[in-house]
This record gives sequence, structure tokens and C-alpha cells, in this order.
Amino acid sequence: MNRPEVAAALAVLEAHRVEIAKKRTLELFAEDPQRFSEFSVRLDDLLYDFSKNRLTRTTLRHLFDLARACQLEMRRDALFAGHKVNVTERRSALHMALRNFSGQAVYVDGRNVMPDVLAERARFLAFADAIRSGQYAGATGEKFTAIVNIGIGGSDLGPAMAARALSPYTAPWLSGHFVSNVDGSDLADTLKHLDPARTLFLVCSKTFTTQETIKNAESARDWLVAALGEAAVPSHFAAVSTRLDKVSAFGILPDRVFGFWDWVGGRYSIWSAIGLSLAILIGSEHFEDFLRGGFDMDEHFRTAPLSANIPAIMGLIGVWHRNVWGYPAQAVIPYDQRLARFPAYLQQLDMESNGKSVQLDGDAVTQATGPIIFGEPGTNGQHAFFQLLHQGTDVTPVDFIVAAEPNESDAGHHVLLFANCIAQSEALMRGRSAAEVRQILRDQGLSAVEIDQLSPHKVFSGDRPSSTHIYRKLTPRTLGRLIAMYEHKVFVQSVIWNINPFDQWGVELGKELCNRLTPLVRDGEADLSGLDGSTAGLIAARRALVS
Ligand code: F6P
Repeated sequence: MNRPEVAAALAVLEAHRVEIAKKRTLELFAEDPQRFSEFSVRLDDLLYDFSKNRLTRTTLRHLFDLARACQLEMRRDALFAGHKVNVTERRSALHMALRNFSGQAVYVDGRNVMPDVLAERARFLAFADAIRSGQYAGATGEKFTAIVNIGIGGSDLGPAMAARALSPYTAPWLSGHFVSNVDGSDLADTLKHLDPARTLFLVCSKTFTTQETIKNAESARDWLVAALGEAAVPSHFAAVSTRLDKVSAFGILPDRVFGFWDWVGGRYSIWSAIGLSLAILIGSEHFEDFLRGGFDMDEHFRTAPLSANIPAIMGLIGVWHRNVWGYPAQAVIPYDQRLARFPAYLQQLDMESNGKSVQLDGDAVTQATGPIIFGEPGTNGQHAFFQLLHQGTDVTPVDFIVAAEPNESDAGHHVLLFANCIAQSEALMRGRSAAEVRQILRDQGLSAVEIDQLSPHKVFSGDRPSSTHIYRKLTPRTLGRLIAMYEHKVFVQSVIWNINPFDQWGVELGKELCNRLTPLVRDGEADLSGLDGSTAGLIAARRALVS
């Protein structure tokens, strides 16, 4: 699709970048004492500070023009109105309905889905509370103490990430475990510490056809049966899927099967019954708070003007970095150990959504799309890849995420954590010039020769962009807000790039080839002719190595 008005808006931004590049970010702060408040937005206690990015009011104006050229507001409204925005699968993308507390109807194909959403939520939350209270116990009458979620991708990353993030809210007698990899060691390492009599398995798969999940569920079942017998299976298994027909074939009792709908994408499904493990761990009230956090962000994204709209600004600054400055990656660094899995969660959310090369109508895209997303919690990342962030040849914008206070008293750890976080964003922006380095080395008493040799290595360019998200505390509601904020940011970028963020055809080819290769790997005698040289060579090499 040719979009001349979008190309024109991008050309304006390109010309503007040349102007901006002449100024250091620190100069922008010096010129504008209000810069911090001008370039930050709040939603209750959540503050988004984007003042350390290389941009001005003019930049924002041009970015909003780009958004309007792409009809961002209209496309957002179509998303919320249940239009079939997932054009290749002819589906709506209405995960927002799962956290809709407005009391308003949400229509899919002319039908209000809210009664079904609320009924299913009530069912799975009642189940969660019955597990917690011991009303539903294991086959031997013992209360469940271990919850094992079996799923992968969106059926794993969300609950696994959130369970860790909200561990202070978890009942002390419960432990959550997440098995995803088809590598048998994942399940084996998990089960070796667990008591079958007190273990509940939740098999989560939107399609209930995912090879990894089905294999892990079968092996988990074998483990349980070996310990407690076949009759124990119904008490120890529950499932979550959109394909209820396939679940019943697996032998899970209908009243332990929880559904959701095809208008909820896998990577947006944490808000549905896919969140069951989280709901059991933290309880239904906290789970509802988590949903309310998502709703807060939906309302904000839906109603705030672009100039005060956090996901819109985040998305547009991402476009500024990706398309105008040409930065290939985006780091997300939570200064919160409990958000350790948040970057991995965002990798699926962002890269599976916006890792696309064609526009909605199938034409090739005309500019780069989703960046590579990566991250680790601070301060650990500082001692690993931050060297590249500060002095590497690629500039990588960073999102810092940090709480104002910890969830428990921590003898001053959090002060250090927070100071580290803001020190990194300051260092990325400020840098250190050659003159400053030389002065420091002189003060340290180094000779002129030593200074000449050492100083180039100690120079930091600075002007490396970052944004910071601060909130009071990592509560269920805050986590809900953070996730929904990134969901909408991803959507905003998909609109600018005119791509479909709700399909994932790119994962299909590998699955298909795996199905073809599995019998060749299993059968040591199978004919390998017809395969490319490397693939055949690797199978032959394995055959020679296995005992
Ligand atoms: O990786 C592809 C994918 O389809 C993801 O989009 C999805 O979250 C994951 O596989 C798991 O799928 P399912 O929930 O159907 O098992």
C-alpha cells in the first residue's frame, strides 16, 4: 500500500532529525527548566519520563502528525469497537474485554461478549479460591501446595512472569511452577521436587494442539499415574483452552476446563483463564486488581489526547528511534528482580506482534518494523551487556522500569537499586567527553603519554536515549497497568507501520518442518535423501553420537 501522507510525515521527521542531532540532550535540559514536567506523563502513581530522549516539542508535533496521517485514533477506536483488525485470521482483538470494568457491552459480530466473559471469569476464580481453601483437594485428600502450569508462549510467559512479579502476594503454602520447553529436562527438573499427592497441573493451550504442551501434559499425567494411579487424574488436572472439544479428548473433567475465545490472541491471554495459575497463587481479589490495572490503562489509552497518552507517546518515540534514527534494538531493564521475566514476556508481545515484513494488504512494508527487544533486570544487566549500551557502535534506546519503594522492608537495598537505575540513565545521556576524561586522568597523576593512550577508551558519547517508568510499588494493579501499556504501545507502532500485530504466521514453517523431520530423527534407519546437506548431515551426526 502506497501511503504518500505517511512518507511525507516521515520525511519531515527525517529533516528534523538533522536539526536535533546538532544539539546535545543536556543542552535541551539547560534551555528548558520545565523539560522534565513537559516531557513526562502520569497515570495516577505511574510516571512515564521521556525527557532523556533526543526530542523537542517540535519532534512531538511531527510525531503526532505522523500518527494522524496513519489515522491512529480511528484505528484505536476500531480496535476497541471489535472490528476485525486481525485481518489475516478475520478476528477481532478484544483482550480488553477481559478486563473491562466499565459495565458497558463489548460486541463481537454483533453479540455482547461481556456476559460470557464475566461468567467464565467467575468460574475460574471460584475454582482458584476452592484450590486455595482446600475445598478441592488431591486424590488422597491432601491440600494442593504446588501448581504446575504447562503451556508455552502466551500460555506460559504471562502467568510465569506475573507469578514471579507478584510473589509477595502469593499464599505462603503455595508454589507456582511453569513448564514450557519440550526438552524433557524442564518437566523432570520441576517434578523431582514435588509430591504428586499435593500437585495440581494446569494444561494451558489456546489451540490444544501445541506439540510441546501436549507432550509435557502426557508426561505429567504418566508421572501422576505412576504415583497415585489412573483414578487420581481427574482431581489433579485442569485445563484452559479455546478448543474445549480437544481438551475433553485428553480426559480432563468438563467442570475443570476453562475457556476463552479466538478473539484473544495467545500473547494477550494472561487476562483470561490462562491466568488461572496466577489467580490460584495470589487469590481472586488480587487477580481482579491486576485486571483493573489493565482496565486503567485501556481507559487512558482510549480517552487521553495523543499529547498526554502514554502508550501513544511510547509507540511514537519507538518509531522515531527505529525509523528516523535507525536504531535496531530496544532494551527493557526493570530495576526489580521480580520483573526478571518481563523482558522475555515483552519479547513475545512485541516481536511476535510487530516482527512483520508486509502491510495489511500484503504489500511489502516501506520502512523497518519491530526492533529486537531484550533485557535483564538491573543491576545484573549493568555487569553484563551495559558496556555495549554505553560505548558500543549501535545506539540502543532503553526503557527503565522501577518502583519508588519495595514490597517489604529491605535494609536500604532499594535505595541502592533506585540510585543505580537513575545513574544509568544519567550516564547514557550525559556521557563523558575527551576533555573531561583527560582532566580526570591528569588529576589522577597520569603522564601525558598515558593520558593519550587511555583517554579514547574512557570517552562516552552520551546522548543515548532512555525513558523511565516509575510507580509507587509493584502491586497487582501496577503490573496490570504496565502490561497493558506495552500492549497498546505495540499496537500504536503496528498502526504506523500498517502491519497486522495480531497474527504470527512466522512461527508456522518451523513447526511444519519439525513434524516432517521428527520421524527421521526418531527412526535411525530412515532415508535422509531429499534433505539439504546440512539438515541430513546433522541427523546423521546425531545418529552416530547416540548410544
Ligand atoms: O509461538 C506461536 C504460538 O502460537 C503463540 O502465539 C502462542 O502463544 C503459543 O504458540 C502457544 O500456543 P497455544 O496456547 O495454542 O498452545
